[in-house]
Formats: sequence, C-alpha cells, structure tokens
Amino acid sequence: MTNAVGKNIYAMRKKQGLTQEELARLINVSFQAVSKWENGVSAPDIYMLPLLANIFHCNIDSLLGYPAEQQKIMDYEERYKSDGYYWGTQPSNMCYEVMKLCPPNRPLRLLDAACGEGKNAVFFARNGYSVTAFDAVEPGLDKARILADKVGVDVNFFKADMLNFRLDKEFDVIFCSGALHYIPQDLRKEILENYQDHTSIGGLHAMNVFVRKPFVKSPSDEKEFRYKWISGEIFTYYANWLIASCDEIIFDCMSGGSPHKHCMDTVYAIRQS
Ligand SMILES: C[S@@+](CC[C@H](N)C(=O)[O-])C[C@H]1O[C@@H](n2cnc3c(N)ncnc32)[C@H](O)[C@@H]1O
Repeated sequence: MTNAVGKNIYAMRKKQGLTQEELARLINVSFQAVSKWENGVSAPDIYMLPLLANIFHCNIDSLLGYPAEQQKIMDYEERYKSDGYYWGTQPSNMCYEVMKLCPPNRPLRLLDAACGEGKNAVFFARNGYSVTAFDAVEPGLDKARILADKVGVDVNFFKADMLNFRLDKEFDVIFCSGALHYIPQDLRKEILENYQDHTSIGGLHAMNVFVRKPFVKSPSDEKEFRYKWISGEIFTYYANWLIASCDEIIFDCMSGGSPHKHCMDTVYAIRQS
C-alpha cells in the first residue's frame, strides 16, 4: 500500500506540474517527507489524504490505489466462481452492429476489453475475427476458455487490469461492453487515447458506458456504479473520428433484487486518419 500511495502521489504531482517543494508547502510538510512518500519509505498520515486528494482533484480511493475497484473485482471473482455463466453465453446486440460495420471479410484483429466470461469474444471468433480478449478476473477467463473450447475456436485470452494495462499492438476493432464505468475520470483520456492510437485507419471502436442522469435513480448506484460517466462524455472522445452511430437509452434492471433503471450511452466510431 505504501508503495502504491507513493507512486500515485509522484504521478499526480508530476501531472499537476508541481515540484516536491511546492507540494510540501501546500500541505505544510517538509519536502523530505514528500520524497519519502514517493520512494515508499513512509506513507502520509491519514489526515493528509483529503488535502492531497483536493490538490490532485481526485478522490481518496484513487490516491490509495483504487481499493474500490479491487473490491469490485473480488465481487466478480465470486460471481464467476458460481455454476453456469453469470452473463449467459449469448452475444450482446452490440456484436451484430460490429459485424455490420466491420464485417470479417478479411482477417480482422479484434480486442474485447474486460471480456468477462467471454460470450462476445467467442462469438466474434466463431464469425471469423482474430480475437484477443482480457479481463481482470481469472475465474471469468477460465470460463471463457472453456466456452471457446466447447465451440472450437481460438481466442487469445489473458488477464489484465485495464487501469494499468496499455496496448502495444494494433487492432482493427476494439470492443468494450459494460466495463468503462470502472475507469475513474482521471484515467479515461489516457486509456481511450491508447486504444485509439492502436487502432488501424478504418478501424472501429464499439463501446458502451453507464452514465449519470439526475432523474434516473439506481439503488445500487453508489457502490456499483460510482464511476458512471457524464451523459454524452464518451462521444466527445470520438470528435475526430467518424461516429457511425451513437445512442443513449434508459432501461429497467433487476440486479440486486430490486427494480431500478440505468442510463447507457453507446458509440460506434471509425478512425479516419
Ligand atoms: C458487466 S461485466 C461485462 C463483461 C463482458 N464485457 C460482457 O459484456 O459480458 C464487467 C467486466 O469488467 C471487468 N472489469 C472490471 N474492472 C476491470 C479492470 N480494471 N480491468 C479489466 N476488467 C475489469 C469485470 O471483471 C467484469 O468481467
């Protein structure tokens, strides 16, 4: 933990363009204290955390290394360990849109980011795409591999955390369904730019994300969907791409056992240059 906090303080201080001395002055400690935090020798006192979070315009969870996401990931571990496929094995409707916009009439390299138990990745592989897929939760990937075997397709599944994993090779299609709300605000630009930079010209992004609407109240909102995006936010990242279609829907949900609603934005965008 000490190391994670220190690394985060270092990264956020640099991002703000502050020297160790300047940060130290703002929070009334010595620059040696800041240096020790950043080198993992010691950690800031607990009462420092709100001050630091305020200066870095982030929340305390982010400063501490995303423990909320860790909790979320542990929840998924439990879900995926149970019998059957938590999300089913039928592909999402988004997959059919991808097939219309980018049909696999030549070998297309497709990435499914945060693929869960692999229902979409396996569908794409079955339809001729060359599929790579990752998720942070191993039991989900185990089930995904079993599904791929059963169907008789090859998918390159691997474990990765999208908060710190970055692409280093190119894809023709990047698909991400039901997971972007795990990305805190301060990492969205960097992650999406990395995905965009590693997309071929003419390549497609198909993404959806839960968004906040003041009139759409969800009981599980705070815990489960704390990083919901602003309505329309995802579209802004594609201002320089051809937006083939974008959409916002409000739908009923029964997760957690009580009826509620969610709002979701979906974008299909094609890289032009
Ligand atoms: C709602 S499920 C969607 C799964 C899959 N995309 C689908 O449509 O069936 C969200 C997925 O995001 C994954 N996830 C959450 N945070 C993640 C992270 N930081 N890195 C990678 N995967 C993550 C979870 O493990 C889970 O499988």
